[in-house]
Amino acid sequence: KSGLDTGIIGSEILYFDELDSTNARARQIGDAGGADGTLVIADRQTAGKGRMGRQWVSPPGVNLYASVLLRPPIPPWQAPQLTFLSAVAVARAIEEISGVRPRVKWPNDVLLDGKKVAGLLNEMNAETEGIRYVILGIGVNLNMGAHQFPADLRYPATSLRLHTGGPVSRLAFVQSLLRHLDALYQKCLSEGFSPVIAAWEGFFDLVGKPVEVDFQDRVVRGVVEGLDDIGALLLRLADGTLERVLAGDVRPLSS
Ligand code: BTN
Repeated sequence: KSGLDTGIIGSEILYFDELDSTNARARQIGDAGGADGTLVIADRQTAGKGRMGRQWVSPPGVNLYASVLLRPPIPPWQAPQLTFLSAVAVARAIEEISGVRPRVKWPNDVLLDGKKVAGLLNEMNAETEGIRYVILGIGVNLNMGAHQFPADLRYPATSLRLHTGGPVSRLAFVQSLLRHLDALYQKCLSEGFSPVIAAWEGFFDLVGKPVEVDFQDRVVRGVVEGLDDIGALLLRLADGTLERVLAGDVRPLSS
């Protein structure tokens, strides 16, 4: 019926012409006991949410706005690692559909030519006994035209269509995305996060490169050594010490 042959992801698919935010709707469904793997998808969002309280511009007819409800049997501290899962699934779907190889920005953006093509927003509902659910929010700019990006966007952004020059089928893209997400999720449940983090590193091109990490209150420079086993960024500072970065905005330095 949905053209999907996935196991968990997309077990239920709820499509809406319009929602305030697919993440908000998926949270309501999670609160109401919705099934593991439920996919909420909308043609447009009137209040799409980005990270750091930002808005996610969500015009109709062009892009992908989706949220997946998961009930993973993992401790809450591991939940942030699920971001790598959505990033790898989006990167693989872009590669499969268009043949171009995207890059990932640590920890949770997908880039084409250094410009953001997808954003990920995970939200968790956990109690002392563990995770009730996690929402993986996924926004991918597929066919958005240059004029549809807000003029005051604070980072460079693009769409798959702007990058490749041709239109992208939203259906083909979402089918590919869900297949990759499902495969990664199953792998993660059987083997843990290390294969997912290793796959993520395959799309990461800053290992060995100098970067600047903006922590809001300070900026640190160093050379990227890679990720540790939970996905923290390892940075070699000029004085030889190794800094483990758990959150921050990473920018490549040109030299
Ligand atoms: C970011 O700021 O990079 C994260 C953007 C996440 C956007 C997606 S679109 C589908 C889902 N619903 C939302 O309201 N946000 C996420």
